[in-house]
Amino acid sequence: MKKIVVVNWKMHPQTLAEAIDLYRFTSEVCGPVKDKVLTVVCPPFVYLEELSKIESDVLLGAQDCHWEKEGAFTGEVSPTMLENLRVKYVLVGHSERRLHMGETNEMIARKIRTLVNNNLTPILAIGEKHKGEKLEEVLFPQLRSAFEDIERISSKVIIAYEPVWAIGADESDTPEHATEIVKFVRTMLFSNPVLYGGSVNHLNIRDFVLVPEIAGVLIGGASVDKEEFKKIIEAISDV
Ligand code: PGA
Repeated sequence: MKKIVVVNWKMHPQTLAEAIDLYRFTSEVCGPVKDKVLTVVCPPFVYLEELSKIESDVLLGAQDCHWEKEGAFTGEVSPTMLENLRVKYVLVGHSERRLHMGETNEMIARKIRTLVNNNLTPILAIGEKHKGEKLEEVLFPQLRSAFEDIERISSKVIIAYEPVWAIGADESDTPEHATEIVKFVRTMLFSNPVLYGGSVNHLNIRDFVLVPEIAGVLIGGASVDKEEFKKIIEAISDV
């Protein structure tokens, strides 16, 4: 089974020239391992059009999307706009959006429904804020609200388990704990791929991708650091 590597550039880089350079670099690094790794790059919206014109073995994703198809939603981007730019995947419910933009489980559920209906693959991020929080109290409501009324089509959704305390931190989750959570998610959604995200780097990546239940990783900070990203891909190329 191919491992999935989702790359989240967040609000980087600052110029189109840098974005093109980083995308070409990412494509060069990931191209040779395309039989083993499916790479999805999620740049800021403003770069998608130019990046979509570049021949590449990596696929394009977006960092967010609105739940309505069109209308008076200032500052928002619709699923159709993304589809027209060859975007295939969309991150939904990233903890930074839940925290800074006030995204609720209900908004996230609406986005997932719209994306699935538009043949885009949502990558739903779930995770607890603090170490040791009770799973049932955080992850269960996040999953239940996202899937309540789309059960029949829910297998199209990729889940990313990202403990919030491990995002952009010096410390990742342990592979043992992440595996436990991934197994828990798969008891509810056994046909959905489940990724791990949160401080993935070239030293710990193998520990996560070697676990059969973990379908891949979501990489933030390390994906805009060329040297680090190259080492990450090298580390998983012989998995
Ligand atoms: P990080 O971010 O790899 O920088 O911890 C993960 C994410 O954005 O989901």
